[in-house]
Amino acid sequence: MGSVSKDIHYWTRRAAIAGIKGLHAMAPPIRSYSRVEFHMDTVFWLCAGHGFPLRNPRILDPFSGSGIHMSHSYVGRAREAHLCDIDEDYARLAGKLASNVTSIHGDSSRMLNDGDARLGKYDMIVLDNNLGGIYYDYCEHFDAMPAVFRHFDRSAPYAVLALNFITDPELMNADPRFETPTFEEQMRRRAAFYGTPARRITPDAGARAYAREARKEGWDVVGHALAPRAEFFHFLLLFLRPADGG
Ligand SMILES: C[S@@+](CC[C@H](N)C(=O)[O-])C[C@H]1O[C@@H](n2cnc3c(N)ncnc32)[C@H](O)[C@@H]1O
Repeated sequence: MGSVSKDIHYWTRRAAIAGIKGLHAMAPPIRSYSRVEFHMDTVFWLCAGHGFPLRNPRILDPFSGSGIHMSHSYVGRAREAHLCDIDEDYARLAGKLASNVTSIHGDSSRMLNDGDARLGKYDMIVLDNNLGGIYYDYCEHFDAMPAVFRHFDRSAPYAVLALNFITDPELMNADPRFETPTFEEQMRRRAAFYGTPARRITPDAGARAYAREARKEGWDVVGHALAPRAEFFHFLLLFLRPADGG
């Protein structure tokens, strides 16, 4: 006769899995919350796997919203996190996420470009920018380039930029959540930034464009990885070292 303990182990896990699936079916947002935790695990695992582990990093999140969709998933790993949003209510709510969070209200593209005194120096910057179309006259995170690279700590041996990277814009625009009348204008701005009219941009081609921007501010992109988020967009992780060796 086999071991009963294995049966107990098996059936209690089966019950737990069924319970979680039932919760997801009853309340679909719960599925997103579990998923986003895994996405963020993947970000940190990929950083470590590529030789750039982030332990208690100082994080800047210029497009944080209230943080309730994604940003909440990394604050427990951070020494401190600066969460910024142009929407005053979102910024106020972001400040309530955890005691290591400082929220900053303002236009992040301007703050990054002007060197706003409320910003510090960071080990990791997460650009969870709007995906579809033109917003506040901006497009994706292109208006934060190359200024964003000025906000990493140059005395650290390396830093990580994680940014929303659209691998398939047509698929994005076909999703009712992202369909936008300014799609063609967005495609024009993408072509100018990535230096190609191709709509699908590979992570390699993307990393080359960001390496060009990083170099302007004295950083080398020494590696990259793609952390999956959804069908048509992901986090592109750029591993950076000071160009002069720090
Ligand atoms: C994709 S949402 C971010 C979601 C967020 N990470 C979360 O966890 O809930 C993008 C956010 O960027 C903000 N935003 C757009 N343009 C901005 C700007 N120029 N400066 C600051 N925030 C901006 C929007 O208000 C929106 O909340």
